[in-house]
Amino acid sequence: MPKYDRNFTDELRERLSIVDVVGRRVPLVKKGQNYWGCCPFHNEKTPSFSVNEDKGFYHCFGCGEHGDIISFVMKSENVDFKTAITELANQAGLKMPDYKPKPAAQVAREESYYQIMNAAAEIYQKLLYEQVGAHALEYVRGRGFSDEMIKHYRIGYAPKNNVIANKFINVKQDNLMATGMCRHGDYGMYDFFRDKLMFPIFNARGQIVAFSGRSLDGSEPKYINTTDTELFHKRKTIFGFNFARDAIHRANRSIVVEGQIDAIQMQCNGFPETVAPLGTALTEDHISMLCKANRNIVFCFDGDAAGQKAAARACDIVMPFLRDASDVRFAFVTGGKDPDEVLKTGGAVAMQKIIDNATGLADFLWNIANAGFNVSTPGGRTQAEKFIRQKTDKITDTSLRNEYEQEYKQRIFNQWHKWKKQSQNIPRIEMPGVDEITKNTVIFIVNKYPEIAERYGDFLATLKIDFDANAPEISMDMKSAEKYIVSLKLQKYMARLQSEKKDLTAQLLGGADVGEQIAVVDAKISDVHQKLDTLISME
Ligand code: UTP
Ligand code: MN
Repeated sequence: MPKYDRNFTDELRERLSIVDVVGRRVPLVKKGQNYWGCCPFHNEKTPSFSVNEDKGFYHCFGCGEHGDIISFVMKSENVDFKTAITELANQAGLKMPDYKPKPAAQVAREESYYQIMNAAAEIYQKLLYEQVGAHALEYVRGRGFSDEMIKHYRIGYAPKNNVIANKFINVKQDNLMATGMCRHGDYGMYDFFRDKLMFPIFNARGQIVAFSGRSLDGSEPKYINTTDTELFHKRKTIFGFNFARDAIHRANRSIVVEGQIDAIQMQCNGFPETVAPLGTALTEDHISMLCKANRNIVFCFDGDAAGQKAAARACDIVMPFLRDASDVRFAFVTGGKDPDEVLKTGGAVAMQKIIDNATGLADFLWNIANAGFNVSTPGGRTQAEKFIRQKTDKITDTSLRNEYEQEYKQRIFNQWHKWKKQSQNIPRIEMPGVDEITKNTVIFIVNKYPEIAERYGDFLATLKIDFDANAPEISMDMKSAEKYIVSLKLQKYMARLQSEKKDLTAQLLGGADVGEQIAVVDAKISDVHQKLDTLISME
């Protein structure tokens, strides 16, 4: 049996809801914390098979079967491990990795890389407090970094001259180059980082895998980061995660900001659960890593167009990771500031306010749809609906996806189909009220088939019905629903004509000359009769 990277099986467990995977074969009902169903592994009539979404396992109190999504597929489909994870990878939309064990030579090489990175950090840290680093120290202190912070984050200074290339004489040149710390030039090796304020980038285990160097003389680019190496993949690395992990657990959420200085200042000023991607847009790997720690995330972006775009992207990527217990929010720092500046000017209180005002994911997505399409036209609404559908389709947790779909259906009806809102202002035609059954049927139709509601909006608006009221579910397809509304409309019209005729007849008996008017109403009545007959006989 091939061995698969633990990361890959973890990835599957992260992306797929166990309730969803088990729910495909076993009907489950939520009771308390867990979901329950009849055990597929032994014969039973009363459910003793429980599924725990948070912990990602199932357990049968009847026969003792126990396991996760992978063992569930293996046992219930009687397939081997590889087949099971292939099937789950399909469900999760992931490509199967080619597994190759790490050769011993590679392990040794990586060990040497870590040593190089650590030794480099030590040199930089020392230089920051020497004469050559004085301007860097002044700068970083000016940005609100205490000595304690400088030490904790191992901030340093890379001088203008070659220190790594010159000092690491006992290290293989190839290894130095492989860490991204040195490059080859016409005159031999030279240091990649020169005259920079140096921020080490740690992996989740707290080992230094890269550096981010900030320019000190105002030159562009403002930051340069180690390019990807065997140790460092910027798409998979989140700045500050090693420091934040415990805090994320305690705070029961993570906060994601855009820059590393922001992340550090947040961590040191009351928000230790903060992390930042590294000079790149958020990737699935970033989100997956965060979700492994905790599924509650507050994205905190700049309020500008770029920040909005980044947030929309984050929203897109996070969808498959959502579970019913996830709380994902979007906060925006406005006024051209970033969290670092907010903390400096308004302190933790100002930042807390911004985070408290964060928009929940369901609202955020709704706002994007409303801002991105012209929802006052049917075409724009259709596009917006498709857009929302595309996003909700990415939710892998079936029951959560249904919830989202229902939520948006309601909103689309209540907010985009404006006739209903306008109905308050339309003068009502005097006509007999509708009975309870008719009322419930109409509410059901209007909520189930918004397109019918739109088409007959003018008529529906004349009815004295509270369309937001709850109505019991009935079984009625769209065609029958439309017929129902048309026939209701005709019946209402008929009632009006009949009451008109009654009035006219009274006038006639009183001696008024209304014979012709009565004939016109009679003609209309027979016309409506005919229409009703056709409607009823229609297939
Ligand atoms: P910002 O331009 O918002 O920088 O970029 P910042 O963090 O506020 O920087 P300070 O406060 O002026 O020092 C946000 C993040 O994008 C990456 C860095 O990770 C930065 O923290 N970045 C930015 C780069 O990688 N290169 C750049 O040239 C600029
Ligand atoms: Mn900044």
